[in-house]
Amino acid sequence: MFTIPAPFQPLAAFLQDFRHEMHRFPELSNQEFATTARIRAVLEQHQIRILDLPLATGLVAEIGEQAGPLVVLRSDIDALPIEEKSGVDYTSEHAGVMHACGHDFHTSAALGAAIMLKQQEATLPGRVRILFQAAEETGHGAPALLATGALDGATVIFGIHNDPGLPVGVLGSKAGALTAGVDRFTITISGTGSHAARPHEGNDPIVIAGQVIAALQTLIARNVPSNQNAVVSITQIHSGSTWNVIPDSAWLGGTVRSFDQQTRELIERRFRQVLQGIGAAFTSDISLDWQPGPPSVVNDAAWVDFALEQGAAVGFEARRVEASPIGEDFAFYQQQLPGAFIMVGSGGPFALHHPQFRVDDRALFPTARYFVQLATEALSRLSKGDA
Ligand code: NI
Repeated sequence: MFTIPAPFQPLAAFLQDFRHEMHRFPELSNQEFATTARIRAVLEQHQIRILDLPLATGLVAEIGEQAGPLVVLRSDIDALPIEEKSGVDYTSEHAGVMHACGHDFHTSAALGAAIMLKQQEATLPGRVRILFQAAEETGHGAPALLATGALDGATVIFGIHNDPGLPVGVLGSKAGALTAGVDRFTITISGTGSHAARPHEGNDPIVIAGQVIAALQTLIARNVPSNQNAVVSITQIHSGSTWNVIPDSAWLGGTVRSFDQQTRELIERRFRQVLQGIGAAFTSDISLDWQPGPPSVVNDAAWVDFALEQGAAVGFEARRVEASPIGEDFAFYQQQLPGAFIMVGSGGPFALHHPQFRVDDRALFPTARYFVQLATEALSRLSKGDA
């Protein structure tokens, strides 16, 4: 396990306190006003530059005085609409809202990195921008931040996510697709209601829904090539209100996860064809609302090698990991510049988005230290033309 050098112990203690405080007062996507103010106060206290950007929530800090390369570190600040049941003594005081994805951990680590980088600002051979990004959970925060131009001129971006599936002291990444492209859908089946005893007088949307569910489950089995991964999950179904009436509509909702653009497009295309075909077969109007979320996080191979190397350099066990079907709007940044997204062990046992999710505080300071290592070493290599 990591030992924190004595000079850094006050900072480590501060970061832990900051995280616990942030955890107690979680805020949903695009409502992170108090969170933003708290981050801003710490940055100002350390005389860290904050970019003047048109953002309602979230902010971007910049460190470095010298002309040269620009490296970006990313954290996210929002929480989820989940009632916390973790049992920690800094449990959420906002009913129905919880930092169940550990963004409090990411923010605190990034804040620690900002403070440590500030201490070596004069010698940094370039600049580091640190994103405290709002609204990751809705997938809208990264595009909004990109639209401000905050990443213009940057060479590389690094982001981390805590991973309760990895022990503290381990980090992992992989080249290529690391997270899934996320699409969300709702399907409305219009039928005709009737007496349950006289179905021939109606057009039963529940029977049609059954066909839709069965057919959509064949998309992965019979359309996606076996060397590609994807998931179709129908997670909601609503119809009817009593036992002896056939309702006039049914509503289904769910998500599709895929790891490359071609598979993503294939599934959407087949999805539409299947619904159209079933609608025609059953003389029903089936409408689809398809909401594309972030694409896959696609890591740059060379920067992944670099990121794993730097992890090992600061005492982590650095591993190659498998792709994970979670969604992550970090993907949008990688459409603009190369980057690496790294999973950092936070010790489990509960999964991300679980009401009992918690992170092990021992991972926090080492993660802040890791952010610093990524930024300083990338700047050093970029300024020498080695990267
Ligand atoms: Ni997250």
